[in-house]
Amino acid sequence: MKILVTGGAGFIGGNFVLNMVPRYPEDEYVVLDALTYAGNLETLAGVMEAPNFRFVKGRIQDRKLVDELFAREHFDVVINFAAESHVDRSVEDPGIFLDTNIMGVQVLMDACRKYGIKRFHQVSTDEVYGDLPLDRPDLLFHEDTPLKASSPYSASKASADLLVNAYHRTFGLPATISRCSNNYGPYHHPEKLIPLMISRALANESLPVYGEGRNVRDWLYVTDHCNAIDLIVRKGKDGEVYNIGGHNEYSNLEVVKIILKELDRPESLIHFVKDRPGHDLRYAMDPTKIETELGWKPEYTFATGIRKTIEWYLENRPWYDHILNGDYRKYYAEMYKERK
Ligand code: NAD
Ligand code: TYD
Repeated sequence: MKILVTGGAGFIGGNFVLNMVPRYPEDEYVVLDALTYAGNLETLAGVMEAPNFRFVKGRIQDRKLVDELFAREHFDVVINFAAESHVDRSVEDPGIFLDTNIMGVQVLMDACRKYGIKRFHQVSTDEVYGDLPLDRPDLLFHEDTPLKASSPYSASKASADLLVNAYHRTFGLPATISRCSNNYGPYHHPEKLIPLMISRALANESLPVYGEGRNVRDWLYVTDHCNAIDLIVRKGKDGEVYNIGGHNEYSNLEVVKIILKELDRPESLIHFVKDRPGHDLRYAMDPTKIETELGWKPEYTFATGIRKTIEWYLENRPWYDHILNGDYRKYYAEMYKERK
């Protein structure tokens, strides 16, 4: 199979190709990535020279480039990881989220229709369901939970999901959607909670926890998500949505305290800052469908995954130092100046 992986220089797409390129030497993987602030070719160093891997720089909403790429390559499968992915940035500047996360998906699916593919897979998120109350631990998101996005980011992802469903129903596009809970692991941009807290704790810097730190996220180690996507692409049914999650619910404060304990740093580094506008309270996934229909099972608990993640950051300081030394520092000063 020839597989197009869009957004493959980012966190999850990068982990996906690093795992799948050596696992399936008979398949060809082509990454299309715009290399925005979140894309990093250093992440792909381990596969750059592989005979079944190629990198193409470009934006998914660039219709001419996408058309030429599809005409040349004859892809069997397209997996769309490309997105603007950070909620806080979507609060500052929603426009680019609509452009990439909605229009880009339309351009990709138009190319899939024109040139024919066996499967278009949209990588979506639990955030499309909105949030759950903190005092109802019995409630979970199911595949048929209504979409009710809260942030410009999640609204753009929900819009894309609706569009994928429409292209499947109206045009018969062979498509699947996966909605996963919060990921963590290697190569995660240090603007997101877990890598931000690890890198700042290591530098003995204050740890900015929004509000009271009571918001709950359902954490999944990134390779468990990648394996689920691979399974859906190979065995999933056209037109279906699959929820992915591992029942690992923790409040943000609990996560930060676990990281501090693992790194042997004091809790006095925690600093409560102004809350995120519209901050979702709790996400929690029901992954029964992918477990029973496709036999997926996560390999990591939060305890084993967070330890592995922290080890990775300790052993790979140059990877995130390169990010911290550049643009990201300016972003941090700008984003957190109002939160003091
Ligand atoms: P990321 O921000 O780390 O990576 C996004 C990648 O897409 C980057 O390499 C970036 O350069 C690229 N990109 C951005 N705009 C592009 C464009 N217009 N054209 C081509 N490439 C472009 O994001 P991530 O955390 O790896 O998330 C990947 C996907 O998974 C996203 O669709 C996101 O919505 C979804 N998701 C993320 C999580 C999570 O916890 N991170 C959870 C569930 C779903
Ligand atoms: P994030 O990693 O941005 O993922 P998402 O908003 O998509 O779930 O944030 C995870 C949680 O951590 C979220 O509830 C917001 C919170 N958070 C902080 O408390 N402080 C921070 O500096 C960041 C980036 C996030």
